[in-house]
Amino acid sequence: MSNITMMMVVYAIFIFFLLCSPSSIAVTVLRRLQLPSPLTGPDSLAFDRNGAGPYTGASDGRILKYFPNDGFKEYAYTSPTRNKTCDGLADFSALQATCGRPLGLSFNHQTGELYAADAYFGLVKIGPNGGTPTQLVGTVQGTPLKFAAALDIDPDTGIVYFTEASSNYQIRDYQTMIDKRDSSGSLFKYDPSTNHTTVLLRGLAVASGVAISRDGSFLLVSELVANRVRRFWLKGPRTNQSELFWQLAGRPENIKRNSRGQFWVAVNSYIGPSPPQRVLIIPAAIRVNENGLIVQVVNLMQEYGSEGISEVQEFNGTLYAGSLKVSYASIFTQP
Ligand SMILES: *[C@@H]1O[C@H](CO)[C@@H](O)[C@H](O)[C@H]1NC(C)=O
Ligand SMILES: *[C@@H]1O[C@H](CO)[C@@H](O)[C@H](O)[C@H]1NC(C)=O
Ligand SMILES: *[C@@H]1O[C@H](CO)[C@@H](O)[C@H](O)[C@H]1NC(C)=O
Ligand SMILES: *[C@@H]1O[C@H](CO)[C@@H](O)[C@H](O)[C@H]1NC(C)=O
Repeated sequence: MSNITMMMVVYAIFIFFLLCSPSSIAVTVLRRLQLPSPLTGPDSLAFDRNGAGPYTGASDGRILKYFPNDGFKEYAYTSPTRNKTCDGLADFSALQATCGRPLGLSFNHQTGELYAADAYFGLVKIGPNGGTPTQLVGTVQGTPLKFAAALDIDPDTGIVYFTEASSNYQIRDYQTMIDKRDSSGSLFKYDPSTNHTTVLLRGLAVASGVAISRDGSFLLVSELVANRVRRFWLKGPRTNQSELFWQLAGRPENIKRNSRGQFWVAVNSYIGPSPPQRVLIIPAAIRVNENGLIVQVVNLMQEYGSEGISEVQEFNGTLYAGSLKVSYASIFTQP
């Protein structure tokens, strides 16, 4: 076994041990932020430059903003042709192709604009007052995006990095994409000063999350069905090259950087027989530093046990979690 392989195996066992061990830290739910019924799927959460929010995308194509006293209210949407007949639409319905399905969300704090990765409409931008979307990238190198999924914005340059989970499957074929272990995902870069899109990586095994490092020197990108996180260098001697950052014993979803430059990775570990038989899902928030060393593992099984999580992030000293499968986001006590 090579050193790298050996290291990977050690990490995998380590994660498995941490997740299954009773000593892995559990946190308490402070509050559930309920979406208006019958909406589901707050996949990703974002906060604006005044610290308000969270904002999140929902199953019927709307982006909602949370108000402490009023709950979630409509803020924007991602389909340029969306109309009221979309309201209340459930996830994975065929109508989402025209109603939109916002997934990854992030604000450009300099301009106040909200960027969304929409499963059907690609990279979309919403003005500082919400409302109507502008589609920025629907096609790359002549090919329409099939399933845009996640994004992050360089806070200094405003450059947007976003992923296409798969170029073979749409979100409505989610389970097939997983079962076939698809590896047609991509990582892209969008420069708002030129409107130019560049391909950074192809052949990713379901590119479900992306985050930029605090100093802007690299990106992390999740490969869901390969149980790994890849690092792509933006600066330095390895510019434009990528390498394995982290191999784990579960499926990594979104990645969010905290104010100290560490990363929170939402990871679901599946234990037991393979689907469609019942499997046990162990959702965990794993905090890693810039070298890929685990700082903390937080077990979220009590709150999200049977469904799994799609994102975890730290904000205002608490932990927020989102999930594609449930009708609420959660705020946890600081672990
Ligand atoms: C975060 O903290 C700031 C400053 O204390 C506050 O103004 C803001 O409302 C908080 N945001 C949320 C979402 O809790
Ligand atoms: C509203 O949107 C739905 C779904 O996209 C579409 O089928 C319908 O024709 C639209 N109605 C109007 C009046 O535009
Ligand atoms: C980029 O696109 C926006 C909106 O689509 C447009 O207003 C702007 O002029 C474009 N900028 C450049 C440099 O092409
Ligand atoms: C990295 O790739 C970009 C786009 O493909 C290219 O413009 C740039 O020169 C490359 N940089 C280096 C250092 O290889």
